[in-house]
Parts: sequence; C-alpha cells; structure tokens
Amino acid sequence: MNTEHLIRTFVEYYEEQGHRPITGSTLLPPPGDPVLFTTSGMHPLTPYLEGRPHPSGRRLVNVQRCLRTTDLDEVGDSTHLTVFQMLGTWSLGDYEGRQSLDWGYRLLTEGLGIDPGLLHATVFGGDEQVGPDTDSLRLWRERGVPVERTVEDNWWSNGPVGPCGPDSEIFLWTGDTPPPPHSTPTRDDRWVEVWNHVMMRHRRLDDGRLVPLPQRNVDTGLGVERLASLLQGASSVFECDVFEPWRRLVPTLWPLQEPSLRLVCDHLRSAVVIIGDGVRPAPTGRGYVLRRLVRRVLTVLWRDDPSRGLGDLPREPLSHTLDHFRQVGGPEPVRRLLLEEEQGFRRLLERGRKVLARPRFRGPLGEEDFRYLHDTHGLPRDLVTSLREG
Ligand code: ALA
Repeated sequence: MNTEHLIRTFVEYYEEQGHRPITGSTLLPPPGDPVLFTTSGMHPLTPYLEGRPHPSGRRLVNVQRCLRTTDLDEVGDSTHLTVFQMLGTWSLGDYEGRQSLDWGYRLLTEGLGIDPGLLHATVFGGDEQVGPDTDSLRLWRERGVPVERTVEDNWWSNGPVGPCGPDSEIFLWTGDTPPPPHSTPTRDDRWVEVWNHVMMRHRRLDDGRLVPLPQRNVDTGLGVERLASLLQGASSVFECDVFEPWRRLVPTLWPLQEPSLRLVCDHLRSAVVIIGDGVRPAPTGRGYVLRRLVRRVLTVLWRDDPSRGLGDLPREPLSHTLDHFRQVGGPEPVRRLLLEEEQGFRRLLERGRKVLARPRFRGPLGEEDFRYLHDTHGLPRDLVTSLREG
C-alpha cells in the first residue's frame, strides 16, 4: 500500500463515519501565528477547537503537511522526517475520545489488516490537575489491546499555551520476533507510535493554569510516511514510496554512508516542499530554516568532496516531490534557488575562513566576537562554530 492509497483509504473510512474532508493548508501558518511552520494537523484548526463553528461541520478529516524542526537532530533514525504528512480527524465538540479510539482500532485492524496482536496503547494516568483517562483505558481493555499508563508522555499541547489535553497513543510492533511479554512503548523502542488521539478539552493560560475549552474536542494525528513504511514492510521511513526517486538517484551522484544519505534525502526533499510553499532563503525566520537545511546538505556533501554540487541533481526527484504535494511551478525555479543558495554558501565559507584566520579569532570567542562576525561579515554563530571545529 503506497502513501496515496493509505491516504485515500483513511479519508474514505472517515467519510463513511460522517466526516467532511477539508483541504490541508500549506506549511505556512495563518498570519499572526507566532510559530514559523505548521507542526501538526490541528494547528490551522486552532480557532475551531476553541469554539468557532467550522463551515464544514463538527466532524472533519484531512491530510496536512507538517514541518518539525524540533525533530531535526533525530532525522536519520528510522522514523523521523523534517517534512512529513499527517492524517488527521477532528470531533469539534461532537463525539468523545472513546469513539475516536474505537474507529481508529477498526481502521488499523479491519481496514488496513494490521494484526491486533501487534498493537499497544498508552493512556494518560492522571496528575494533580487532571484525573486519569479511564474511558480510554476501558476501551483498550475491552478490545484486548495492552495498555500502559504514563503522565508527561500522554499529555499533548501544541505549545506552552493554548488547547491541550490528555492523549492516547497507538503503537505498532516493529520487532523481528513477536513482542515479549511485559514489553511496553516506554521500555522498548521497537514499539513505534503511529497515531495519537488527543482529548482536547483544556486550554493552558499564560500563567500555566488550565481552564476548560468551550467544547470537548478530539484531535487525532497519524504519521503517513511512518505507517506507510511499516505497511510496506520497509525498515525505515526512507524506504517508503515517497523517497523512491531520491533513494534511487542520490547514491548514483554522491556515494554516501546510510546516515548521510538519509540526511541529504530528507533535507533536500524538505527544502523542495518549503520552496514549493513560497519560502525563500533568508537570514531569519522561515527562510533561515530553509537555508540551514540546504547548508547542512552541502556540509555533508563537501566533507568528502568539495567539488560536489546541487547542479548535478536531476529533475525527477524534485518533480516527484512537487507533484506529491500538489505544488505548481515545476522543478526549474526550485533548482535555480538551490543553486543560488549553494553559490552564496561557498562565498560565505571562503570569506569566513579568511576572517577566522585573523589572530583576533584564534582563541576562545566571546559574545562581542560573535556579534561582530555576524553583523560585519554576515557569519552566523552556528557557521562560525562549525568552521572553527572543521
Ligand atoms: N495534534 C496531535 C499530534 O500532532 C494529534 O500528535
């Protein structure tokens, strides 16, 4: 089952349960949102979770592209990507968490054919402010799914303030042998989280207090590439179909060890999607996230061979990614931008090496040095640090 098929199966299943499909947003949150990129499916729906009526009703389903820079250091393991797609469902003050988990269980087992013996759930065990999630606990016990109770790991929020609540996460077993007795998601990382159901009923205020939201919502998110790769029997998200042309073509250009190959494929593919959503490289904000992704790729490529360049990239993986995300404009403008960025980075590195060779910068650097290097020579702190380490 490829990712497109998984998305269709999911959306159709929820349409049968009365959900209206809504179009996902781009990676860019609405104006005024303090966050640089959309990090989860609920993000663009925040006003509706807070009580504004949604024009498509109280049951929604969609697929949303997301970007998580907090996961940047985890990229390269078998389950994390910088840009990924999230399938989401919402009950806006309609059905409760128990119903959501039951549909989720049925879709995974009956709809997608997953062996129920390979599932594990976790639920919120309660803290001094909110009681344990006994409804979810009961549902999992009734379905015969093993369940673990945790506190911090089963509380979900999109930031320090705003809508939040206890969640129940569904894990899939990825070990080569059946799960050993007593193995649980917090003790054994062969359990991989695939779907999170958040009972979004609270709002965190600036002073840390929790108040009830005007309605009891459910917000769920399922990682598309992660589940697709597991359904495809692939050993990592990098083996699933969305990476096919990247995995096939990148190694023919640049022989790389597996961790570097993963980083290069992930970051280039993410850069393509970010550019496809209209972001341009810049010294701050979103543009700087894009710039850092491209620079990380180049740093890895140049470590072995400084003559390598993005000009060698064929159009196919770029078009494949742009088409997958229904982004228009074609690969040529994206390639041009990547090349300009590469040239700029080469010039900056040359300048940086010259400046840092000056006697003044031989010893430890203070705040004032970093400020001077940044303001006068355009050398960001992370670049200065890596040039000095290199
Ligand atoms: N909003 C929840 C998440 O991103 C479903 O995990």
